[in-house]
Amino acid sequence: MRKVISVVSGKGGVGKTATTSNLALALQELGEKVIAIDCDIAGSNLALHLDLHPNPERSLQSALEGRKNAIEAITLHSTGLMVMPSSHTIKDENIDRRKFKKILNRLDGIVLIDAPPGLNENLHTIIDLSDEVIVVTNPEIPAVADAIKIVEIVKEKKGGTENCWCVLAKVDEIKKQLNEGEIEMALELPIISRIPYDRELKKSIFDRVPVVRHSPYSSSAIEYRKLAAWLTNQSFEPPRYATVMRFLGKLRGR
Ligand SMILES: Nc1ncnc2c1ncn2[C@@H]1O[C@H](COP(=O)(O)OP(=O)(O)O)[C@@H](O)[C@H]1O
Ligand SMILES: [Mg+2]
Repeated sequence: MRKVISVVSGKGGVGKTATTSNLALALQELGEKVIAIDCDIAGSNLALHLDLHPNPERSLQSALEGRKNAIEAITLHSTGLMVMPSSHTIKDENIDRRKFKKILNRLDGIVLIDAPPGLNENLHTIIDLSDEVIVVTNPEIPAVADAIKIVEIVKEKKGGTENCWCVLAKVDEIKKQLNEGEIEMALELPIISRIPYDRELKKSIFDRVPVVRHSPYSSSAIEYRKLAAWLTNQSFEPPRYATVMRFLGKLRGR
């Protein structure tokens, strides 16, 4: 059984790669077999979030170019997560749809795709080959305006948005931002997760360890776990004493 879930956005920098790496680990913690693929060829940084080599021998490119088969192109991360990173390049190459489909057909479990921002050809390929689509956006007008375009593409390609949802990331307490009702109305999508703006997540990116491992009791880590449970129809119990555990984590220098 394979399920392809893509993590997409209109605007860049909204939190797609953070969502891909953390959701992948949170799904894995729930016992799912997960393979994360970096399809953001021009802005590939999944490897950086996971502290992998920026120019890996095993990569999406190596599989697309036929130097490796789909299985050989997977790197086993220290957490046990399977990753098909992208090499660092200044070229924005098109992903050959037929070859990419063949790669996906060799994989099983949950395949999580970190997509490029924008409306380019690769995004069309990714949406075509996805079973479910997560649109990441922030509670800001430019991010939501760009997300609307993505939803239009999903509607056009899939004939609706049945398996398409919104993850709202970098949510903070600022008053002058769009509220959830406005965002859901603009996108015509339900918001299934609210990832708070979290300094612990910023620190985790600096340390190159996804926040669900770096600071497991942080607010963003808890939300990523909740999202993983929702996607796999599992119930979610937020950890008890999270505030105390966060405090203890800080005392230990995290
Ligand atoms: N929940 C969050 N809280 C605080 N900062 C975040 C959060 N998610 C992402 N960021 C910041 O935004 C930057 C861009 O995130 P990233 O996941 O790389 O976006 P994208 O892949 O959409 O371009 C990160 O380097 C990080 O500094
Ligand atoms: Mg990214």
